[in-house]
Amino acid sequence: MGAPKPCFCLCLCLSIIIFFLPLVSSSHHLPGNPANEIVAIINKNRTAAKLGALNDSPGLGCMALQYVELCKDNCAATNGSVNCNPPEDDFTEVFGPNCGVELPTFGTITGHIVGCSQSKRYIADPEAAFSEVLVRDGRSLSVVRNRSHKGVGVGLFGVHKGPFFWCVLFGDGETNSTFMLEERGQGIKQKKGCFSGSAFACNSSNLIRSLGLWLLSLLLCLVLHILRG
Ligand SMILES: *[C@@H]1O[C@H](CO)[C@@H](O)[C@H](O)[C@H]1NC(C)=O
Ligand SMILES: *[C@@H]1O[C@H](CO)[C@@H](O)[C@H](O)[C@H]1NC(C)=O
Ligand SMILES: *[C@@H]1O[C@H](CO)[C@@H](O)[C@H](O)[C@H]1NC(C)=O
Ligand SMILES: *[C@@H]1O[C@H](CO)[C@@H](O)[C@H](O)[C@H]1NC(C)=O
Repeated sequence: MGAPKPCFCLCLCLSIIIFFLPLVSSSHHLPGNPANEIVAIINKNRTAAKLGALNDSPGLGCMALQYVELCKDNCAATNGSVNCNPPEDDFTEVFGPNCGVELPTFGTITGHIVGCSQSKRYIADPEAAFSEVLVRDGRSLSVVRNRSHKGVGVGLFGVHKGPFFWCVLFGDGETNSTFMLEERGQGIKQKKGCFSGSAFACNSSNLIRSLGLWLLSLLLCLVLHILRG
């Protein structure tokens, strides 16, 4: 056999780079996270109305996801309203601790909007999710445009099959000292769904995709190695 050919080593190195590339690119504010896109749409809507843009708060986002996860059996199929009202205390006693929000940094929740849909098309179209699921009437638009908010977070539950739930939580306080997450802001990794400001993608498909790519390139390397053998 002898020593492996340099071309084989180069190929192996390349395959390892291919493995890590998707992981690195998804590690921060993934553009493909629909929850992040809803935050951007909300801020666009507010600034168009001459209101301040809101801070993107991962702590609020994580709690928004916790909130809708609790509501997942309450989607009114006819109009997308979510008949679910968890007690106020759940924020400090359940959602916050589950997310690792540091209790001393807890601010006030200044508003929330929840919506659901059976249709998967809204996952791929955050603009439509905003105007057709979350903000369909003047009441919810006035929540979006309330001057009391300083921060915002969005949770999205149900990535592969419906019903799909969206929750927007608004809060007060400065971004770097309110609703802070432990562990340098990583929050917990959610099994289903995703939230704005999260370091994680909407599901584990990135890892699976890069594993697949990696195996494929490894196979190519082997074939190349044998052919040139
Ligand atoms: C939505 O539908 C549910 C039941 O289907 C009803 O109870 C609720 O009042 C409706 N809400 C709105 C805003 O129309
Ligand atoms: C704005 O939000 C605050 C805090 O939740 C609330 O007290 C106030 O009534 C809201 N204002 C409007 C115009 O909805
Ligand atoms: C803000 O959102 C509302 C509700 O979807 C929509 O009617 C309005 O056109 C939006 N404004 C801008 C500037 O996007
Ligand atoms: C938070 O941000 C404000 C303004 O950006 C800054 O003045 C303040 O020192 C920051 N606080 C911390 C704890 O980083």
